[in-house]
This record gives sequence, structure tokens and C-alpha cells, in this order.
Amino acid sequence: MRSRLAGAGGYLPGHLVTNDDLAATLDTSDAWIVERTGIRQRYRVGPADTTTSMAAAAARRALAMAGATAADVDLIIVGTSTPDQAFPSVAVRVQALLGIERGFGFDVSAACAGFVYALSLADALIRTGQARGALVIGSEAFSRILDYTDRGTCVLFGDGAGAVFLRAAAGEGADGILSTHLHAQGSLGDILYVDGALGVADSAGQPLPGKLRMNGREVFRHAVQRLSESVDEALSANGLGRADVDWLVPHQANIRIIDGMGRKLGLPPERVVITVDRHANTSAASIPLALAEAMEDGRIGQGQLVLMEALGGGLVWGSALVRL
Ligand code: UT7
Repeated sequence: MRSRLAGAGGYLPGHLVTNDDLAATLDTSDAWIVERTGIRQRYRVGPADTTTSMAAAAARRALAMAGATAADVDLIIVGTSTPDQAFPSVAVRVQALLGIERGFGFDVSAACAGFVYALSLADALIRTGQARGALVIGSEAFSRILDYTDRGTCVLFGDGAGAVFLRAAAGEGADGILSTHLHAQGSLGDILYVDGALGVADSAGQPLPGKLRMNGREVFRHAVQRLSESVDEALSANGLGRADVDWLVPHQANIRIIDGMGRKLGLPPERVVITVDRHANTSAASIPLALAEAMEDGRIGQGQLVLMEALGGGLVWGSALVRL
């Protein structure tokens, strides 16, 4: 068996926040944020949105593009670092919202690499015959874990969800998920982390705030190195060269990292899908959101080779090479 990527969908919450909006209460500027990151705006959840509701909305769109219904789904995996509850998982909450009564689901905690990790797991479960129709979702409400007094992090992230629907297909056909490669280096866990969790206190017994903390410069340095290695690894594992890649759909953290990967692949800018300017970094949601946008507007079409790569807190990183 192999996994074919049959559809993709995205969802963005309604509350738009521009750089100028942030600069009204923070020592920052639109010029700094655009120059250092490429970000111009982001969306933020309002009272009506949850990580689960956004995931379900994206999932419905992915199913619609695939010409599938909820009855075709027997596996749901959600990459998220901002679940609504410790449990049940976002995945099984989505299962209930979609009215699905069979199969199984779970969440994956792999920060900004959450979608690539989830895609890899879903592909493995399809290949081993444990699932035939899989929703793979990235959904994040990062605004809940941002410290809005820390200009080094709060300007970088946004909320949203993206999803793909994978269908099992028999045999070794030319299309589908060609490979995924996952990596982790836990010894670098303290350069990008959340300083607390539900019920966890510091040594003085005070509840920890549960906010994102990052050494941006260090993460940047590792991202350039690791993602570059990931691109090489994905291509060489498939006996492919840079010229074979039709589209790069990268994790959307910083336009300077994205441009660097595009240059490495020798891809013209119009073959790199960019949403960081409008969505900011939506962590596990960023790749499926970008993919959905480019599939919906017809840029990415059947038969094309798409390379995805992401790195996030852990550190965790990886790639997926998919022929549509
Ligand atoms: O998705 C997970 C992976 N995450 C990433 O890949 C993020 C990787 N890191 C980055 O994208 C970049 O490191 C940042 C965008 C976070 C920061 O850019 P930078 O060019 O590395 O800036 P920096 O951290 O070296 O800071 C340069 C200066 C500092 O001021 P001083 O110390 O030179 O006076 C910062 O305090 O910019 C200052 N600064 C800001 N100024 C205005 C930091 N944030 C801001 C801000 N507005 N929002």
C-alpha cells in the first residue's frame, strides 16, 4: 500500500492583527518585523475558535477537495502544541465533530514539525494496512502561549489550522508520499520551549506561566543547517536531484530561512509557497495551510513533486516528499 494526498484545506480565525497593532503596545515596528521575518500580519483566535474547531474546519475543506466524506476517515492525527485540553486529544474531538464513529485518532507533540511528524505516522499506518483514509491536521492557537511583553517572540506567531486527507492506494504507483524523514535532538530543548504545563509549578510552588521562550538567533542557526541537511536527505533517499522538485512548501517561520532553502534547491521564488507574510508562524499548521492555499488556487497540480520541511522546539525537524 501507499498513501496518496487527495486533498488539502485550511482555516484561519477571524481576528486580524497587523504589525502596527502590535507596535501600539510593544517596543517594535512594522519595519523591523518585515525586514527580519517577512511577517506583515497574523490571525488570532477569538472566543468562538478553539484548536479543535479550527482543526475540524480545515479537515472539512480537505475532505471536500478530495471528494471524500467523513465516512471515508478511519484515522485522525493532529499535530498541535496548543490542545484545548490535556485529554481527550484534539483528534478524537474532531472525530466527534465530524460525526465519525469508527477508527482511531491521537495528537502528536512535535512543535513546528508537528505536521511532518503526523504525516509520517499516518503514512506508516496506511502502508501497514491499519488505516485506509487519514486526516492529518496541524492546528494551533499559539496566541494562548505567547508572552505579549516579549517582542522577540510575540510578533512571530499566529493561529490557524491546515489539513490533508490521505487515501490508501494499492501498489507502487508514481504518486503519493514518497518518503518522510524525522529527526530530534533533545539536548537542544532549551533554545525553544514553553515554560510550564497544566499543574506544573516552579521550585517555590508558583504556577509557571506556560509561555513560549526562544533564543531566536540559536534556533535560526540550527534551522538553516538542519533544514538544508533534510532537503539533501529527502532527495538522495529517492534518487532525485534538485531539478526534480516542482514546489517547496516549507514551514513558515522566517522569510530569510525560506529564501535560503529556495536558493539551495535552485528554485525560482514563484516555486516556493509563501504565507509567512500573511499568516506569520502558525507552527504545526503552517505547511498544510500553505499547501491548501496553493492547491486551491491551482498553483500545485497533479503529478507535481512537492518537498516539505520543518523544524521546531525540541529540537525536532524533518521532511516529506510527496508527488500529487
Ligand atoms: O518555528 C520554529 C522555528 N523558529 C524559527 O525558525 C525562528 C528563528 N529565528 C528567527 O527567525 C530570528 O532569529 C528572529 C526573527 C527571532 C530574530 O531575528 P534576528 O535577526 O536573529 O534578531 P536578534 O534576535 O539577533 O535581535 C536583534 C535585535 C536585538 O536588539 P539588540 O540586542 O541588537 O539591541 C533585539 O532585542 O533586534 C531586537 N529585537 C527587536 N526589535 C524590534 C528583537 N525582536 C524585536 C522586535 N522589534 N520585535
